Amino acid sequence: MIVLTGGRGAADPETLITEYEIQEKVNELASRISSDYEGKEPVVIGVLKGAWIFMADLVRRLTLPVRCDFVRLRSYQGRESTGKVEILMDTTRSLEGKDVLIVEDIVDTGITMDYLLKRLRERGVRSVEICALLDKPSRRVVDVSIKYVGFTVPDKFIVGYGLDLDQEFRNLPYIGVISPK
Ligand code: IMP
Ligand code: MG
Repeated sequence: MIVLTGGRGAADPETLITEYEIQEKVNELASRISSDYEGKEPVVIGVLKGAWIFMADLVRRLTLPVRCDFVRLRSYQGRESTGKVEILMDTTRSLEGKDVLIVEDIVDTGITMDYLLKRLRERGVRSVEICALLDKPSRRVVDVSIKYVGFTVPDKFIVGYGLDLDQEFRNLPYIGVISPK
């Protein structure tokens, strides 16, 4: 048996979702996606940096030929959404006629996903869907339809398994919450 270790001890954020629960959910999402896209070769676009760990686990469980690409978007500074999305890095290949699956860590206000969906649709994709590990619906400003959701989370600041607070905590193997300052 492989024992997974990680985290930094007593100062770690409080656990919200365990490693085991994450892995079970990733398996479940991967099997839904694999069956929905059977016979297709989707382009999986990871939203950096937050989705990097989730995407690495998810794509390895898909039973499909996929191409992976990435965008890097920024809308947050510290704990606050600025409400304005910037593209820091775009995809590298043409997406025309492709079935695109966006992989995102968390949908909060929805502003980032709304922006990305609009941009991808302008590029002539055949289809585009969102797979988000976490959904925080209490703070939604723009309505976005998320086809694949891992967990719905409360209105708290979430870290771990790719999600950060000022670049810290991304390497926590579980999902935790940071208490208010
Ligand atoms: P939105 O545009 O408000 O939906 O925010 C989306 C982005 O903000 C996500 O992709 C995350 O990178 C970041 N974000 C939102 N909520 C949290 C959180 O609780 N913890 C860490 N990052 C978050
Ligand atoms: Mg993100």
